[in-house]
Amino acid sequence: MGANVGQMIDVLSVTPEVFPLIKTGGLGDVAGALPGALAAQDVRVRTLVPGYRTILKTLRQGRVAAKFDMLFGGSGRLIAGRAAGLELLVLDAPHLFDRAGGPYSGADGQDFDDNWARFGALGLVGAQIGGGLVEGYNPQIVHAHDWQGALAPVYMRYGGNGAAKSVLSVHNLAFQGQFSADVFSGLGLPQAAFSLEGMEFYGGVGFLKGGLTSADAIVTVSPTYAREITRTEAGMGLDGVLRSRLDDLYGFVNGIDTGVWDPATDAALEAQFSPALIKKREINRQALEARFSLEADGGPLIAVISRLTEQKGIDLLLDTADQIVGLPARLIVLGSGEATFEKGLLAVAAKHAGRVGVKIGYDEGLAHLMQGGADAILIPSRFEPCGLTQLYGLRYGAVPIVARVGGLNDTIIDANIAAVNAGVATGVQFWPVNGPSLLEAVARMVQLYKQPAIWRKLVRRGMKTDVSWRRSAEAYADLYRALIKGKTN
Ligand code: ADP
Ligand code: GLC
Repeated sequence: MGANVGQMIDVLSVTPEVFPLIKTGGLGDVAGALPGALAAQDVRVRTLVPGYRTILKTLRQGRVAAKFDMLFGGSGRLIAGRAAGLELLVLDAPHLFDRAGGPYSGADGQDFDDNWARFGALGLVGAQIGGGLVEGYNPQIVHAHDWQGALAPVYMRYGGNGAAKSVLSVHNLAFQGQFSADVFSGLGLPQAAFSLEGMEFYGGVGFLKGGLTSADAIVTVSPTYAREITRTEAGMGLDGVLRSRLDDLYGFVNGIDTGVWDPATDAALEAQFSPALIKKREINRQALEARFSLEADGGPLIAVISRLTEQKGIDLLLDTADQIVGLPARLIVLGSGEATFEKGLLAVAAKHAGRVGVKIGYDEGLAHLMQGGADAILIPSRFEPCGLTQLYGLRYGAVPIVARVGGLNDTIIDANIAAVNAGVATGVQFWPVNGPSLLEAVARMVQLYKQPAIWRKLVRRGMKTDVSWRRSAEAYADLYRALIKGKTN
């Protein structure tokens, strides 16, 4: 139980994504689920998000909570309302957010060239809300997510006028919001902010760098990743900054929304199931075989649900696909991303028709079905701050095969002989992250699969693992309260 539960506190979450309204990856899931989990810790969260078209459409009955005559080149409004069980503050600034495409890039896949202004505005308004912009609302904590939210702590540090404390979550250090020096003047920050101790980074403007130097506390999404990023190999140029903030750096592993991801009630499944009814997964597997035109025999069914990028080790998958099929095993992939990976995967599917199926695109429902019907879920990431797909896999009985990095290290117990004998294994880990070791791990999974008693135990143990937000929500709530009291560490 977290300390001091009972004293209600208010937290403003500043995020570019929030499930189910807008999501491109795990950050959306986290920002969408954490408010509900924190409510049980007597933490009331409001979420500040950009007024993308999709969000404004959802938020029909909002009230205007603030107006801006001039916000990065145009006027804007802050609209307060509720949607999908979330308390929202939506930054309606059409010149910044009313456009076709995704949250960060246009339909052509190119990043918008005014992203510095779009997320500069998000950070500025976040800081202003922390300073009391919205009547009757005085959050004690402003919790910003990733580089897109990172300017909130910067604006709070250089000119904030409230007592609110700031927290910056790092979901992925690879995305840093790095811009050329000439955008600095447009941010309206004092010159002092463009310094080594502020947001100057290799001669340019670093949004994440600014957040890391300015926030009162920094949280990343697993203890292992928190350690990794303080080292040169994984620090992506920011390890020095992170080392200088070691006392304020925390690693809390992500949970999942166990309401949205519940195999006993999931409407996206062909057949719902539970640990006592694992056999029903068979029906989902058959549905997948039909969807991906797979032959019914050919070994265990391995799923990959992922952004198709180098981070996620998709090149390793391409290198080893022929051998994986030969084990034998079958492979289904759902993802989108870099064109060469998309093409490569489609070529593998054509070569191994009946054994390999690939869907390029984004499909939330299919992702659920794959977790509920595949025998294993493969995550060969080179680095992984936390990773959510292995947690969904645990809960849905798809045994995770994971690279031993970041949050994958913290959430999966490798089925080595000691762990199998002790009955605590939940998946298969491999290291180093390369083709041969990935292949060896998949082969190990196939061996385990051939031993039904051991396999069943592995699946059940995974399904019974607590992957909820409960523990980490307590950790966040404790951190917020310690910051408010001025007592951390
Ligand atoms: P990341 O945020 O780095 O992409 P995570 O594992 O934290 O990785 O989260 C990925 C989230 O995105 C999961 O909810 C996963 O199911 C989802 N996802 C990724 N690709 C797809 C896709 N093509 N279709 C549907 N969901 C996807
Ligand atoms: C990032 C990371 C992923 C993490 C997610 C949510 O996208 O790549 O590992 O699970 O954020 O924190």
